[in-house]
Amino acid sequence: MKILVAGGAGYVGSRLIPHLLDRGYHIDVVDLFWFGNHLPEAVRVVHKDIFDLTVADLEGYDQVIFLAGLSNDPMAEYSPAKNFIFNAAAPAYLAYIAKKAAVKRYIYASSCSVYGYTENELFDETRPVSSAYPYGISKLQGERAVMQMADETFSVIALRKGTISGYSPRMRLDLIINTMFKNAMTKGVITVNNPSIWRPILSMTDAVSAYTRSVEASPSISGIFNVASGNYTVGEVGDLVKTSIDSLLGKKITLDIRHVHDVRNYKVSTESARTILSFHAREDASKIVHELVENMSKFSDWDNPAYMNIATFKGLDAELQAHSMKAVGAAQ
Ligand SMILES: NC(=O)c1ccc[n+]([C@@H]2O[C@H](COP(=O)([O-])OP(=O)(O)OC[C@H]3O[C@@H](n4cnc5c(N)ncnc54)[C@H](O)[C@@H]3O)[C@@H](O)[C@H]2O)c1
Repeated sequence: MKILVAGGAGYVGSRLIPHLLDRGYHIDVVDLFWFGNHLPEAVRVVHKDIFDLTVADLEGYDQVIFLAGLSNDPMAEYSPAKNFIFNAAAPAYLAYIAKKAAVKRYIYASSCSVYGYTENELFDETRPVSSAYPYGISKLQGERAVMQMADETFSVIALRKGTISGYSPRMRLDLIINTMFKNAMTKGVITVNNPSIWRPILSMTDAVSAYTRSVEASPSISGIFNVASGNYTVGEVGDLVKTSIDSLLGKKITLDIRHVHDVRNYKVSTESARTILSFHAREDASKIVHELVENMSKFSDWDNPAYMNIATFKGLDAELQAHSMKAVGAAQ
């Protein structure tokens, strides 16, 4: 089976793709390489924007996985216009040309952030969604656009993922457990911005498994699926990271508990993913810390800006602005 992964050089793709290669799939990646390329050599990489792909580029693929776009709130807040272009229009355009090219399945990286602020109820995929901030709105727009293309010839699976944490060769330290781990190791302190807020947490290993189940699901399956390893309050996550570091490394960590207002509070049911995709979460927050400890030597240049999406993105944006100013100057 031939699969094209858009945005495959990112945090998720850099763990998912080696796993799909091991299962015998042929994988090509199209990416802008904002954070470099940490993929195995067996992967054919195309340095291109999704918007520069045509129907002909998509011909011959069985499946397309969308992992691109601006992948967190700070990037979306920094550049709301780019956020709506890359997160809402890009997945829609890619699904449109994929369907025209007779691709059979499209897997979209959605997010539980579409649930916005909820009052401590367990949400399944049938519940109303209401984000009030650019990232959540754009992920929902992308999801709605791609889902409405699903039919008997074109399967569409949207995975509403919880916040991922864990190790990847393209590392991110701006995701809840990874950030707590970095601060614990560098400052001896874990900051908990709001201990009562709920978040579904997804281990990288479970995320890879959710994508694998989606690739291998019966061709007749389409749908939206919540995917998480578990629902936790941020206060509990802080406690688990602290106790895991203490037991694994014998390092005493202090908790700094604050009460900062948050626009995101949700917990989700993963029953649909379990019964329809056969997705079973195997890991919990402590297991994620275990994995971070095991791989720590590979990302202990803690302040590398490549590990913080917003830092890298601001740098890229400045380069793009300078480039377009030069182009305007040349045209005048
Ligand atoms: N990481 C999480 O916790 C999480 C949770 C829920 C949903 N998601 C979604 O999953 C996807 C993958 O997340 P990630 O953490 O791997 O992101 P990432 O930021 O590490 O990687 C995104 C990749 O997409 C590429 N890209 C962006 N726009 C592109 C375009 N127009 N054309 C080609 N390439 C482009 C970038 O160069 C980068 O390599 C994203 O869509 C994100 O919104 C992530």
